[in-house]
This record gives sequence, structure tokens and C-alpha cells, in this order.
Amino acid sequence: MDSNSIAAPGGNEPRTGGMACLRAAALEALAAVGWADKLARVRAIGDQAPLDCARHYVAHVALPGRPAVPVLVSPSEVPQRSMATLEGRAALLHALAHIEFNAVNLALDILWRFAGMPDAFYRDWLRVAREEATHFELLNQRLADLGYAYGDFPGHDGLWEMAERTRDDLLARLALVPRTLEARGLDASPLIRNKLAGAGDARSAAIVDIILRDEIGHVAIGNHWYKLLCARQGREPVACYAELASRYNAPRLRGPFNLAARRAAGFDEAELAALQADRG
Ligand SMILES: [Fe+2]
Ligand SMILES: [Fe+2]
Repeated sequence: MDSNSIAAPGGNEPRTGGMACLRAAALEALAAVGWADKLARVRAIGDQAPLDCARHYVAHVALPGRPAVPVLVSPSEVPQRSMATLEGRAALLHALAHIEFNAVNLALDILWRFAGMPDAFYRDWLRVAREEATHFELLNQRLADLGYAYGDFPGHDGLWEMAERTRDDLLARLALVPRTLEARGLDASPLIRNKLAGAGDARSAAIVDIILRDEIGHVAIGNHWYKLLCARQGREPVACYAELASRYNAPRLRGPFNLAARRAAGFDEAELAALQADRG
């Protein structure tokens, strides 16, 4: 990776007028190990934080920082539990909390890793990082209400693996993280919400409603910057997506699709037609 400056997480460089560059602060938050420390660091990045869009940062610690638990296992090893039991509902809420913890890291990663985008790009992803932090906290508090905590169940690392695969390619990152993995969350949310409501857990269902509302905005941000980069590079968005999904071995998306949420998030009819034509 080429670089013209180096920021070590935990260090104080670069700073402007006593405040860390938003992107350097994002790298420090990404490196933070404890979830409470990570969330506090996200919240501490103010709207007025200075921003150096051109600088290339280098991480000197393993990313992302994360706590010793949950233990990471392969997706097939995450047990499916019945919604009829308290433990089953807690396991589902834990899985959602783990997704949100990863989503905080993914938003922070796009902030520090990719230089050369306009100011608004970084402000958008800071907003996403904050909302993901709120989602995590809502779910973690709900887990606590039920007598559980983040780390009580295993989790899988599928979201971060896609971040690793697309670490050198912003167009692929946008195509395959917000526009694929987060968009899959739009499809899954109504089913999860109904499972929780059907089990009599209206409070957890209400949290999923909040998350779905915000996630439409995250996917919309992904769509906006993906299409802008496609235009900049003279790429046709639908064909480009198919090529990137194949090159980076993206998961094949299966219905039912939440077409209303996807339209609200900025997918156009050509993209939705391609999605439904590809369903296996
Ligand atoms: Fe989220
Ligand atoms: Fe999100």
C-alpha cells in the first residue's frame, strides 16, 4: 500500500488544532478491542472533526480490534435455536448484535482505508458508524434485559471476510458490503421481526424495525457512492456488479426480496430485475 503518512492506532498523529482527523480517529476506533471503548471512540468523533481526504493511512495492529468473545466459528457451526425458548430468542438477538458489531467495524474501515473521495463520502460513513453503534447498543441492552450479554454465544466472521477480500478495491467494497450484505439485511428483517413478534417479544421486534429503517439509509449511501464511482470509471452499474460479485465470490442472494425497502434504498428496476433473474 502506498502511503504518505502513517498513523498508529492509539497515537496522536495526525491532528489539526488538537483534534484528530476523522479518518485517523476511525482507524483508532476500529483498532479498539473492547466494544464499550470502540463505541465511545465512535461517539467522540464530532461533526466538526477535521478531515484529510487525500492522506493514505497504514495500520500497525491487527484489524479489527475485537473482544475475546464471542468465539468465532464457521457459519454452519452457529446453532439454530427455537424461538419458543428464551435462550433461542437471546441467540437470535446475539446474532443480530454480532452483525451490528461487525457493521461498526465495516463503516470505520471504509473511512480510514480509502483515500481520495469527497468530504461528503466520509461524513456519510461516519453517520453509518454512529447508527451501527446505536443498533449494537439497543440489541446489547435487550440481551441484558433477558439476562444475557454480547459474547455469550458464538458468532461467525462472514461480514469481515468480505471486507478483507475487498480491501484494495473501493468499488468492490461498495458493491459487495453495503449493496450485497447490508441489502440482504433488508430482505431478512421482516422475517426476523415477525419471528420475534410471533414469539410475543414486541420489544425486540421494535428494535428490528428501527434497524430496518436505518439500514435503508445505509444501503442508499452505498448505492449513491457505488453509482458515482461507476460513472467516474465509465462502468455500467448492473454489469459491473455481476462482474465484481463473481470475481470476489459474493454470496448468491435468494428471495424473498424486500423490494419496497430495496427501492427506497435506491436500487433501480434494472438492478431489481437482475437480482430476481439470478435467484437460485
Ligand atoms: Fe445496523
Ligand atoms: Fe448498516
